[in-house]
Amino acid sequence: MAESADPATPRASLHGQWSSRLAFVLAVAGSAVGLGNIWKFPYVAGQNGGGAFVLIYLLCVFGIGLPIMMAEILLGRRGRRNPITTMALLGREEAGSQRWALVGVIGMACGFLILSFYSVIAGWTLHYMVLAAQDTFAGADAAALGELFGGLVANPWILTGWHTLFMGITIFVVARGVEKGLERAVRIMVPALIAIMLALLGYSISFGGFAEGLDFLFRPDFDALTGSSVLAAMGQAFFSLSVGMGAVMAYGAYLPQEESIIKTSVAVVSADTAIALLAGIVIFPIVFANNLDPAEGPGLVFQTLPLALTKMPGGVFVGTAFFLLLAFAGLTSAISLMEPVVAWLMEGHAMRRGAAALLAGGTIWALGFLTVLSFNVLADLRFLRGTFFDNIDYLTSNIMLPAGGFLITIFAGWVMCSNSSADELDPEAGTVYGLWRVLTRYAAPVAVVLVFLNAIGVLG
Ligand code: PHE
Repeated sequence: MAESADPATPRASLHGQWSSRLAFVLAVAGSAVGLGNIWKFPYVAGQNGGGAFVLIYLLCVFGIGLPIMMAEILLGRRGRRNPITTMALLGREEAGSQRWALVGVIGMACGFLILSFYSVIAGWTLHYMVLAAQDTFAGADAAALGELFGGLVANPWILTGWHTLFMGITIFVVARGVEKGLERAVRIMVPALIAIMLALLGYSISFGGFAEGLDFLFRPDFDALTGSSVLAAMGQAFFSLSVGMGAVMAYGAYLPQEESIIKTSVAVVSADTAIALLAGIVIFPIVFANNLDPAEGPGLVFQTLPLALTKMPGGVFVGTAFFLLLAFAGLTSAISLMEPVVAWLMEGHAMRRGAAALLAGGTIWALGFLTVLSFNVLADLRFLRGTFFDNIDYLTSNIMLPAGGFLITIFAGWVMCSNSSADELDPEAGTVYGLWRVLTRYAAPVAVVLVFLNAIGVLG
């Protein structure tokens, strides 16, 4: 494997490239847009008091997440390998040390942990797709929907069945290679998901809680803000944008040299944020009009959206389509969670794509039982942050992703020489590059550290 440190002759990827910039934008958007936007954002916003949380979330998305996404893409494209090898390679080139590979290793572990619960939640959406198709929500009120959700998560067998199916599909798609079919799927799925959400918005408004819902989401009440909710907002920003663990870096490795990293990142971050906010705007009016608790937790979307669906003509069809699309959005994210480790097994261990996907996916599937059991058999086993699920979620979103992102900013902003980074980010975009550099060197890493210190109470 001939390595070249000369930027004039960039390395080539070992598994081909995206066919166009659009293909790459769609892949990164497919990674970013997922359960994080529609399932997680509303319930975490609800648990953390709404407005002020949302404001901090937006600041983190644009001030920290966006520059880190650009950094990940540029590192990925420069290294042209899986995140572990890329960081080792660039570490050697830029700092004479391969220890930076650690960033890739932590990221990979983080991807395993995230996908282990992500797949279980994606299973919930598959289950709800079937419920919607059977017109189960007809005539149901909030209480009945609460029971329906409670009944699902109380049953480890059903959860296991859907989790197994979802992981199986993920392994199958990853084994076949990332590009095939994915571009087309994302191209249809994301606009369709937005269209259904907009239609649902109309019915959500008709419940009469619209003003209250908007008020909750957008009027910041800073008294409600605690160190841990600021940390939750930052963690949610990382999770929703898929940054901090190498997913975007792995995709960047397949980006053709001439494509603009800046335009791609801005487009993906804007779309991801718009979809999360839209989900919140649809869900909270339903919450308030039905006297539900905004801090309900992970079941929130499953207990609210069906109420709007029942009001809608053709709700059976729309509901089925909605949960199917949501599971699909989860699938494109799940694929990106597996891609770093699969690329690593293939490049570093000469494994075939299929075997690599099976090995990684099988391990993640097994880990998923911790989450499956967190909602029933082991629901009373609580330590640190709560159940196994609560702990895995907290550890990955609030600690591992921000820590990974922090190391990425240090590497891209401080360790890498500015010629290298300027060379990758469009050289003509002088001011944008300057802004990126300031955010990456100062704002983002300092903000991450301050939020951490604040959360553990060091800042008072
Ligand atoms: N961003 C995805 C979502 O919002 C989840 C994800 C996190 C994917 C981290 C990849 C890496 O659903």
